Amino acid sequence: MKVPSRLQPLVDDGLIDAVLFPLMSGKEADIFVVRCGTSTRCAKVYKEAYKRSFKKAATYSEGRKVRNSRRARAMEKGSRYGRKQQEEVWQNAEVDALYRLARADVRVPDPLGCFDGVLLMELIVDDQGDVAPRLADVTMTPDQAVEDHGLMMRYVVRMLCAGLVHGDLSEFNVLVDDEGPVIIDLPQAVEVAANNNAQAMLLRDVRKITAYYSLFARELLDTRYGEEIWSLFEDGELHPEHELTGHCEPDDAAPDVDAVMLEIRAALLEEQERQQRLQEMEED
Ligand SMILES: Nc1ncnc2c1ncn2[C@@H]1O[C@H](COP(=O)(O)OP(=O)(O)OP(=O)(O)O)[C@@H](O)[C@H]1O
Ligand SMILES: [Mg+2]
Repeated sequence: MKVPSRLQPLVDDGLIDAVLFPLMSGKEADIFVVRCGTSTRCAKVYKEAYKRSFKKAATYSEGRKVRNSRRARAMEKGSRYGRKQQEEVWQNAEVDALYRLARADVRVPDPLGCFDGVLLMELIVDDQGDVAPRLADVTMTPDQAVEDHGLMMRYVVRMLCAGLVHGDLSEFNVLVDDEGPVIIDLPQAVEVAANNNAQAMLLRDVRKITAYYSLFARELLDTRYGEEIWSLFEDGELHPEHELTGHCEPDDAAPDVDAVMLEIRAALLEEQERQQRLQEMEED
C-alpha cells in the first residue's frame, strides 16, 4: 500500500521496509502492520493531541515526571513548544511502560522504540500467524477463564510492584495469543507513587477485567482481588509472585474513612471523564 505520510520518515530511515495494511483506527492512534526486514511488526501512529480522547485528562498525567524545568514550565504555559513537549511525554509514556513491564515479566508486545510519534512493536499473532483477537472477541471454558484471570491478576501485581497501574484495562486492551493474554495500550499508565488516583484506577482495572472473565466463570464475581492487592501493597507486603486468595477482610476496627474517600475519588474520576467525553462530542 501507499506509505502514509506519518510513516514515511521511518521508511526513509530504514526502520520500516514496507507498510502492509492498516489494522485499526482507534481513538488515540492508527495501527498498521509493517514489514521490518524479514519480520512483520506493528506500528502505532499517535493522533495529534486535539484529536485524542479523554485519556489525556489531567488525572492520568498527574505525577508524570518532566525532569527538565524549562520543559516543565513550557508544558504548563501550553506554548507551542510546550505542546510539542507534552506530546512527546505522552508518546514516550507508552514505550517506557512497555520496556518497564517487559522487564517485570508482564506479557506485553516487545517494544522496538518510539520514533517521530510512531511506536514500533511486536505484532501479536495467533497460531495461524494472523493478528491475535482481542479478549472481547474470545470465548472460553470456565477452567480457561479462571486460569487466564489468575494470570491477569499476576500481571496486575507485577505491574504494581514495578510502580505502574494500567488505568484503562479491559477486554478491549488485552489480546489473546497461543500462550494467553497480552496487555496492550499503555499511554495512560499511571505512576503509582505520584498519582492520587492510582488506587481507584487499580480497583477499576481489576473490576473490569474480572467482570469479563466472570461471564465464563461466574464464581469470579465473588472475588475481591483488587482490594486484596491494594491492601497488601499498602502494607508493604506485596511482591511480584504473591499468591493471592481473591479475598480481603474489611478492617472493622478502623473507621473506614479511606473507603469513603476512595468512593469519592472514583466518582470524581468518572465524572471528569464523562465531562471530557461530552466536550469531545461537542467538538467533533
Ligand atoms: N502489538 C499489537 N499486535 C496486534 N494487534 C495490535 C497490537 N497493538 C494494537 N493492536 C490492535 O489495534 C487495536 C488498537 O490498539 P490500541 O488499543 O493500542 O490503540 P487505541 O488507539 O488506544 O485504540 P482504542 O481507542 O480502540 O483503545 C487493538 O485493539 C488491537 O486490535
Ligand atoms: Mg485500546
